[in-house]
Amino acid sequence: MFPHQRAIVRRGPESGLPIIVAIHSTARGPAIGGCRMATYPGWQDGLADALRLSAAMTTKCALAGLPHGGGKTVIVTPPDISEATRTAALHDAGTTIEELGGAYATGPDVGTGPDDMLIIGERTDHVFCRPVAAGGSGDSSPATAAGTIAALRALCDVRFGSPDLSRRSFAVLGLGRVGARVARLLSDAGARLVVSDIDEAKRPDEMEWIDPDKCLEADVDVLVPAAMGGLLTAQTVPRLRCRAIAGPANNQLDRDGTAELLHDRGVLWAPDAVVSAGGIINATAVELRNETPARAAALVERIGDTLTTLLRKAEREGVPPARAIAITN
Ligand code: PHE
Repeated sequence: MFPHQRAIVRRGPESGLPIIVAIHSTARGPAIGGCRMATYPGWQDGLADALRLSAAMTTKCALAGLPHGGGKTVIVTPPDISEATRTAALHDAGTTIEELGGAYATGPDVGTGPDDMLIIGERTDHVFCRPVAAGGSGDSSPATAAGTIAALRALCDVRFGSPDLSRRSFAVLGLGRVGARVARLLSDAGARLVVSDIDEAKRPDEMEWIDPDKCLEADVDVLVPAAMGGLLTAQTVPRLRCRAIAGPANNQLDRDGTAELLHDRGVLWAPDAVVSAGGIINATAVELRNETPARAAALVERIGDTLTTLLRKAEREGVPPARAIAITN
């Protein structure tokens, strides 16, 4: 059976680029999920990513208690895309989303930000995180980073017996919009920290740097994946020296069974669907339910409690946390 409600793959009428929109589920409510702009070997790889990412959004929404299902947009870009083609592709995504009539709304993701949501918004209203000046909730990365910190405190409490981040060491892999903020917040909290990114230009002056290849082997308490997914595999798990993992990257496991490999190695892995929900929690609270920023921030903080409950349940049952997730899509 095809597990998704629908997937659209089309050549963008304005850009000529592959535009992919996948809706995994609308059982709990309209699907939401960001718009990713990235270079893939081929459009088929973009489609596979959209299918995986949209399914993960269904889980993320359900775990966050949101009345939404999962969807995702992927725009497959050439490495050297012009500004004009980029705008055309965002318009194509907007047109495609508009044709879905509200079954799915998009937001920012890897490769896009609030200004891009404004461009998509020229074709559809089903878009979150336009700039605040344009009536949206703005950049979602501060909320995603805040949710990640709440998750890291919960993880440290369960794994090491204290939520105090200043007593632990962390390796942050990926210094994009969210990862760079998480690193800053960890540093402000007094944590010991090494950071890494495939782009050396992102290297911050005042933080300890580690080669991205070496980051997985960093001898730290907690690894924080904040870049692309699929980094935890049967090949990489045996190299890990951390004792726990939690980060905002989507789809960190290459396949479900890797959760057992981590468990057997004694590494406590917090499912990314819980850790990374701050962006959607904040955007839906502010834009759909008119919550104040303070109330939205309190909802994001609850990620800590959600994760604690999940980790304790897994501990009781003696299973990896990913196996303790009980939701119905
Ligand atoms: N990138 C966000 C995620 O993966 C997507 C998003 C953020 C969608 C904010 C809507 C609003 O969860």
